Amino acid sequence: MKTPFFPLPSGRPALVPSVLAADFTCLKGSLAPAGKLSDWVQVDVMDGHFVPNLSFGPGIVPSVAAASSLPIDAHLMVEEPGRFLDAFAAAGSGLITVHAEAGSPGACLKKIKALGLKAGLALRPKTPLSKVLPYLPLLDLILIMTVEPGFGGQAFLPEMLPRVAAARKLIAASGRGIWLQVDGGINARTAEAAAGAGADSLVIGSALFSAGDPAAFLRGLRKSL
Ligand code: DX5
Repeated sequence: MKTPFFPLPSGRPALVPSVLAADFTCLKGSLAPAGKLSDWVQVDVMDGHFVPNLSFGPGIVPSVAAASSLPIDAHLMVEEPGRFLDAFAAAGSGLITVHAEAGSPGACLKKIKALGLKAGLALRPKTPLSKVLPYLPLLDLILIMTVEPGFGGQAFLPEMLPRVAAARKLIAASGRGIWLQVDGGINARTAEAAAGAGADSLVIGSALFSAGDPAAFLRGLRKSL
């Protein structure tokens, strides 16, 4: 499966619907309003060990690919991500993010790059930002979690904003074109705060899929950011 290029829009953060909050009785219909107004979609993979929740495996990727033409970002909230990289690559993920707190992040990031995909490293709220330093040469994306990973619909942790700003500084100092993604509790208000702190990719779940008019919600976001 060809690795789709992840378009980073110019002059505004990428908007990334999180499939976790989508309507699985009609994925195509649920993702359709987001289609033209988003930049890629994220599948939130949870194993019930690294996080208390259990979500889905690589089998979800072809279904999301059939429901939306957007590139797919797989956020692996799993203890042993190395076991699943080939499967998510083969299923059509264009970017795979593993957690710095999970098993063998360095080996996983190397493998993701060897698979020809974009590689992301995610940090739980309590993990020091310095954990990303050894992996910078391998990274296309850093994901700052603004909730404790595991469930959608949680409230944004505002104390993460200085961390987003610090990550932006760290990326600038590295001289590398690493994307800065934020995930958790993103709505119209927190999106502005996260973008203002330096995020250039916003994962949006419940605020998007619970909106009466998801397309209007995204249009409003694009205008305000
Ligand atoms: C947390 C999940 C959620 C999800 C976004 O483990 O990763 O952050 O993607 O959900 P909302 O936007 O509802 O917080």
